[in-house]
Amino acid sequence: STPPPKYTIGFSQCTNGDAWRQAMLAGMQKELSFYPEVRFRIKDAHDDSRLQEKQIREFLREKVDLLIVSANEAEPITPIVEEAFNRGIPVVILDRRTTSKLYTAYVGGNNLEVGQAAGNYVGNLLQGRGNVLEVLGAPGASPAVDRHRGFAQALASYPGLHLVAQVHGDWKRPSVMARLPTILRQHPETNLIFAHNDRMALGAYQVCKKLGLDQRIRVIGVDGLPGPHGGLQFVQDGVLAATMLYPPGGEEAIRTAMKILRKETYEKENTLSTMVIDSTNVLTMKLQTEKLTSQQQDIQRQQRLLQQQRDTYASQQTVLYVLAAA
Ligand code: FRU
Repeated sequence: STPPPKYTIGFSQCTNGDAWRQAMLAGMQKELSFYPEVRFRIKDAHDDSRLQEKQIREFLREKVDLLIVSANEAEPITPIVEEAFNRGIPVVILDRRTTSKLYTAYVGGNNLEVGQAAGNYVGNLLQGRGNVLEVLGAPGASPAVDRHRGFAQALASYPGLHLVAQVHGDWKRPSVMARLPTILRQHPETNLIFAHNDRMALGAYQVCKKLGLDQRIRVIGVDGLPGPHGGLQFVQDGVLAATMLYPPGGEEAIRTAMKILRKETYEKENTLSTMVIDSTNVLTMKLQTEKLTSQQQDIQRQQRLLQQQRDTYASQQTVLYVLAAA
């Protein structure tokens, strides 16, 4: 029989409804399989900050030993995260931050760097001259704020590049399909669109295509997920000129959480690096991620085999016990 859980980890996820978040969860589950003494609970806030606040409060009532939080919007989630921290519950912030320094550790990409990488890439691609349109993530989410800041900073060093318009999406494709056409008609001089993730970048491409602008306007995104509907595929297909890799960090989050729970030394800031993926390196990236996926499947197969062996052993023990008692 499995021992009772030693630790409970509560994960407050801003949304679980997209491939990037699912890759994050898969990474967490893979890492968690090495810690059978952990009970893992996830609450999905469905992009709703009030619901997320309520769910974190529930986790506190349920007396979790550690909280992992990806904050839908920074401001509204800050007070409850500070409350948890002040009550002595370790908090790992994953990807989307609060506005406060009161947390135990951060795991995730550096979104200022993501924005800067995008801006410098655009500078090179357009050879320092052109008009750029930005499709931002949901207002108030820390990656949207930081990606914009980094992007604007990098563009500022190219006097011939102009940020002509901005539109806020909600991280999802339909928001861009709905809002971009009007803005694009107002700015026919646009040469490039930087969208804060690949899903919105795909929407931007589809809008350009519909308006007959796809040959003139290049689109870049963020995330670089593998798989048939991921950013790597979009780059390979020429739908996107580039994407900035933004690793979901599920494994790293669990590793950091375990160090904290086991009172081992850990870093407060655990930054995952970004890189530009474009036509020059997309094939290499795809090959590498495919290899990783197949290795992960091997590990899962081995774990299933081990479990079968443990079950067989346990039933043999029972037989021996029964025989000895007879
Ligand atoms: C997934 C997502 C990603 C983006 C990240 C920012 O929910 O929208 O596409 O990079 O969240 O937090």
